[in-house]
Amino acid sequence: MAKTEATRVCSWNEWDPLRHVIVGVATDCHIPPPEPAVNAKVPDDSDMKGRHGMRPRETIDKGNQLLDKFADVLKSRGIRVDRPTPIDFSQPVQTPDFRTPTQFGCMPPRDVLLTVGKEILEAIMSYRCRWFEYLCYRPLMQRYWEEDPDFRHEAAPKPRLTDEDYHPDYLSHGISEAQRLEWTANKHFVTTEEEPLFDAADVLRLGRDLVVQHGFTTNLKGIDWIRRHFPDHRVHAVNFPGDPFPIHIDATFTPLRPGLILNNPNRRLPDDQRELFRRNDWEIVDAAPPAHNQPPPLCYSSVWLSMNVLVLDPKTVCVEKSEVYQAEQLDKLGMNVVEVELREAYAFGGGLHCATADVLREGEFEDYFPIQPASDTANL
Ligand code: ALA
Repeated sequence: MAKTEATRVCSWNEWDPLRHVIVGVATDCHIPPPEPAVNAKVPDDSDMKGRHGMRPRETIDKGNQLLDKFADVLKSRGIRVDRPTPIDFSQPVQTPDFRTPTQFGCMPPRDVLLTVGKEILEAIMSYRCRWFEYLCYRPLMQRYWEEDPDFRHEAAPKPRLTDEDYHPDYLSHGISEAQRLEWTANKHFVTTEEEPLFDAADVLRLGRDLVVQHGFTTNLKGIDWIRRHFPDHRVHAVNFPGDPFPIHIDATFTPLRPGLILNNPNRRLPDDQRELFRRNDWEIVDAAPPAHNQPPPLCYSSVWLSMNVLVLDPKTVCVEKSEVYQAEQLDKLGMNVVEVELREAYAFGGGLHCATADVLREGEFEDYFPIQPASDTANL
């Protein structure tokens, strides 16, 4: 997009041609100190246990170098790229309800910003250390507001995040993987139903339908909040047994184009929640295995960032360069694959999808699921 073209905010789904995007920044990114939501996410044997403070300088520099190169790849394809402005993440977050000594970062804009049509909604978030992260995006939001008279800038209600928001049994040490899998299969997550909570990265936009993962970062009240906020949409709650740390839907369920979606084979969508897709002839395909058997050092995410791809249009997809099996599968599914090196930036909060947030995709508000499930179990 030429610089002179007017700013326009609009994106209805995950696959229409991408024209304008935000790419995160690794600068000053911190490992947060212990707090309930973070403790529940970091496995006992993680190299992040017991560590907090600014991440090693050389990893930040490398992360930024890769993110800049990713931005250049997108720009070379005519996509406009904006970047957030990091705040000082060494500052504490203090509210009347809690205090945490330092913050997180602004690498994964996907967690914070939910673009639905002409609106960008700042998510609620359940990590205390991420309470102020929206400030990194405010310079961009203000600019879009000035430049696009149709842009709707919204912020969901800031949460209290008292101890009542977290189940105490998740805060003990030495929780076995089997115990975690049993809890998550039974939809017993770290967050309670004290108040609405959601992260933007738990939401998939499929035109008129929004599919939202119920898990650690999004509770049922959060999903109900989304449903009431977007009355022209149909909102479907889903969960994925098999994930011991269910945070964000985008390494689990990845739409590629109308009618085709990848599902993590270790975290399959339960049968009773498939009806929406079945009835509308959508194919749900098992994703290829990741190329790595370990995430990189100091990383929150699983090896399944392999499927955290960024769709540029229904025929083109950016895949992390080392994820050769995922690239091969997407090629066989008829997509042109653009390789992007990003693995050494995973530790800052995710892969190619996490590292971006849509501003503009060409395309209209469409109904891809005209036949809704008979039983409304998946639809709140
Ligand atoms: N939470 C997602 C995963 O690590 C991104 O699989």
